[in-house]
Amino acid sequence: MLPPSAVPVEGDLLLGGCSLKTIADRFGTPAYVLDETALRERARRFRDAFTSLHPKTTVCFASKAYPSVSVIGLLVEEGLGSDVVGAGELMMALAAGADPAGIVMHGNAKSDLDIQAALDAGIGRIVVDGFDDIDRIAALATAVTPVLLRVSPGIESATHSALATGGVGAKFGIPVDQVPAAIARIEREPLIRLDGLHAHIGSQIFELDQFEAAVAALATLPRFGVYDLGGGLGVPYVPGDPIVTVERWAERLVRAVHRHLGADVELLVEPGRSLVAPVQVTAYRIVTIKHGVRTHVAVDGGMGDNLEPSLYGQRFAPLVVGKWRGPTQTVELVGRHCESGDVLVSGVDLVEPEVGDLVVVPVTGAYCFTMSNNYNGALKAPVVFCRDGVARLAVRRETYDELLAREVGVGAAD
Ligand SMILES: Cc1ncc(COP(=O)(O)O)c(C=O)c1O
Repeated sequence: MLPPSAVPVEGDLLLGGCSLKTIADRFGTPAYVLDETALRERARRFRDAFTSLHPKTTVCFASKAYPSVSVIGLLVEEGLGSDVVGAGELMMALAAGADPAGIVMHGNAKSDLDIQAALDAGIGRIVVDGFDDIDRIAALATAVTPVLLRVSPGIESATHSALATGGVGAKFGIPVDQVPAAIARIEREPLIRLDGLHAHIGSQIFELDQFEAAVAALATLPRFGVYDLGGGLGVPYVPGDPIVTVERWAERLVRAVHRHLGADVELLVEPGRSLVAPVQVTAYRIVTIKHGVRTHVAVDGGMGDNLEPSLYGQRFAPLVVGKWRGPTQTVELVGRHCESGDVLVSGVDLVEPEVGDLVVVPVTGAYCFTMSNNYNGALKAPVVFCRDGVARLAVRRETYDELLAREVGVGAAD
């Protein structure tokens, strides 16, 4: 489950040629440690997988999966566009050097501020998610504004319910039966140009048939020149999880597009999780071990830096760094936060865990940095890029001053 450059060695783990022990000593724990070469290679692989089959494809990184200027910037360097939600992610993509023309903006509840920011930046397309978006764009636009229309295709994708976005009753997009009315509404607006349709059915999906079903659902609607098929491809987190390569995903999506929509359309895809998840590990230090009915091995992070287990029961496969073989104990790998639900992995076999050991949790490159938080005053963890034996701090750890910085009311009793 470790990133491609990982080499377990005696007492340590090398990542991008860098010693994890040294990184932990230098930057502290918890820390997100990212294999930069693997990320660049993955970006190229995604781009090539699609453009080799359908040259008119833009791969836009779904920046919600890793909203860091450093990560987005690296993917921009590799020629990817950006999918942003709202003004905040737009700001990050622009700071990362993204070409506004290659940015699409999503959001099921875009405010005037979000839409104004998109218009000011002159982004490629705003994705209309509901009728209120149409009203807002019409009210704010001063020039012709290209949009896509997000369709809710009514597909119950085979994933955790918290990750399904395209089923009947989803909060995202416009149900198929309301799409003709939305198109008619847009067509009455002189400053909105409808270029095409969008569908995204959820995240961590391995059933390729479901992606094809979404394309087929779009084909029941009026034809356009542009189709954005979102992201959603699943990745393995633990041994035994299915493996569906980006090449297979691209092959099925493009084949479905050619069959149902035509070979001449412009295509966009928005991978997030599948692009970034496998290239990062999180490094923790074991703080305490309690033996009882269960053995609790507690580390210095948890739901403050990885909400995936609590939010949608994601399993991970942690390892004690340097203890690659030996007798194992079945333990609860828990965090330091005041919730019994703060369990990184329940019932996991670890090799002789001891206080002070480093633990790595692989496949944390998607949505962990995104959802990091300050629960119990935790400082948000740093991001360290590793490449060719050089460890580079991309995002530093938050400070206690920053934790207090927004408290403008301190001492202002009235
Ligand atoms: C519109 C849209 N596109 C792309 C994605 C990225 O999905 P994933 O990270 O599963 O690839 C999401 C995330 O849910 C999304 O809402």
